[in-house]
Amino acid sequence: MKIRTKITEMLSIDYPILGAPMFLVSYPDLVVAVSEAGGIGCFPALNYRTIDHLREGIAEIRSRTKKPIGVNLILHKDHNPNWRKQFEVCLEFKVELIITSLGSPRSIIQEAKSNGAKVFCDVTTLRHAQIVAKAGADALIAVCHGAGGHAGTISPYVLIPQLKEEIGLPVIAAGAISTGKQMLASFALGADAVYIGTRFIATPESKASEEYKTMILESSAEDLVYTAEVSGIPANWLKKSLEKAQIQKPATIANVIEEAQIEKEYKRWKDIWSAGQGITQIKEIKPAKEIILDMIVEYKTILESIPKVDE
Ligand SMILES: Cc1cc2nc3c(=O)[nH]c(=O)nc-3n(C[C@H](O)[C@H](O)[C@H](O)COP(=O)(O)O)c2cc1C
Repeated sequence: MKIRTKITEMLSIDYPILGAPMFLVSYPDLVVAVSEAGGIGCFPALNYRTIDHLREGIAEIRSRTKKPIGVNLILHKDHNPNWRKQFEVCLEFKVELIITSLGSPRSIIQEAKSNGAKVFCDVTTLRHAQIVAKAGADALIAVCHGAGGHAGTISPYVLIPQLKEEIGLPVIAAGAISTGKQMLASFALGADAVYIGTRFIATPESKASEEYKTMILESSAEDLVYTAEVSGIPANWLKKSLEKAQIQKPATIANVIEEAQIEKEYKRWKDIWSAGQGITQIKEIKPAKEIILDMIVEYKTILESIPKVDE
């Protein structure tokens, strides 16, 4: 089984499914599982406190799979002073896909491309998409309303077709996609691939704690709160985890990145849990490979059962 789109061609993968990078959740086990299953596993460089740890992490992934992988970089020199070194490690290991969030990709695009890497950029609005398209992005990741992590406010019904029509680059749908039905709906809107975060938290391969995984299974969309008070940028959080962690004062994204690089502070973020609205459809923990294969089968079944137009 394969599904061919501009994105699968670009990345040489079997399925148009990207395992979205997740802070403190996606490490080698999950990245390898998603890539080996025919999607592409991705992780944030920030998951490693030091450049040496990042190098060890990528070396481990490379030793366990020959398939393509993706690394997310936060390209903002004030927020992430280490971005240049993180980027150089990606070049050293010839990482196939660089995903940028926060900041313009202009500073890395030429170098990444001449090294054979593709550059995909997170966007939440048309304006942001125009900026990254001008900088030379290979594809847009439309981070829609309901996504886990830093989410946009625009419905996928609107943002995906708008970006497709106005920009013309391939579009990857992000936000609340946990099933084959939701994947098919994204394709109907014009997406060329899906970007899945939250669904992969509930896997044996994710680094989320057992309590976090259980909360994902037991919660639904109404158990989330969308606020900028936690990390300085509006994001979706599991309300109960915020109550438990007793968030006192609002953080800024600069604090989060800084703290990610300090051992003691780093641990604090382990108890503050993000998720997207797609938790409503997550009922069990299952291996990443099974999630992908089940999604493809459901996609195929629904595609065949959709009402046809009688001529
Ligand atoms: C726990 C968690 C951590 C995340 N960490 C990051 C991150 O470090 N960098 C990033 O670009 N996106 C991050 N995201 C956003 C995801 O990459 C992706 O946009 C999102 O998960 C897609 O929506 P979904 O969770 O509804 O599938 C995170 C999302 C979650 C749920």
